[in-house]
Amino acid sequence: MSYQLLFVCLGNICRSPAAENIMNHLIDEAGLTGQITCDSAGTSGYHIGAPPDRRMSAAATQRGIVMQGAARQFTAADFAAYDLILAMDRNNFEDICALDRDGTYRQKVRLMCDFCTRHAVKEVPDPYYGGTDGFNFVIDLLLDACQGLLAAIQPELAR
Ligand code: 4NP
Repeated sequence: MSYQLLFVCLGNICRSPAAENIMNHLIDEAGLTGQITCDSAGTSGYHIGAPPDRRMSAAATQRGIVMQGAARQFTAADFAAYDLILAMDRNNFEDICALDRDGTYRQKVRLMCDFCTRHAVKEVPDPYYGGTDGFNFVIDLLLDACQGLLAAIQPELAR
């Protein structure tokens, strides 16, 4: 069984698909393909079925990361299906936890920026209504967080 990660944002077209594809890139580079698997979802249903936002894809491509995927909505069934659920911001975190009323899965839900080692910000900002700089910053931040996340998971794989 692989260690299963789910990245979650609002629309599942910008931040969480970027996190998913960056993490897959780092997993492949580390020779851990198949040992850690990644998926992403949105707390909203606004963009179900849509590919990643082209502005997010352009920023990722500049860093050598190819963006793939189609948006889906987070559901309560995801709590049992994944080992760790990474929320991009506090609103995402609260919306996820609202679907786990009795707190059964509370320990599985974390803020993505908790894994950053080079950035001090606590949330991955929503780039949707901003410019190119915002998308580039999301990539920088997620590279940092994904590297920290990979380091945190590696000891778990040996168990
Ligand atoms: P994401 O970005 O949550 O990072 O995928 C957004 C995408 C769409 C919207 C907001 C944020 N929207 O309001 O449609």
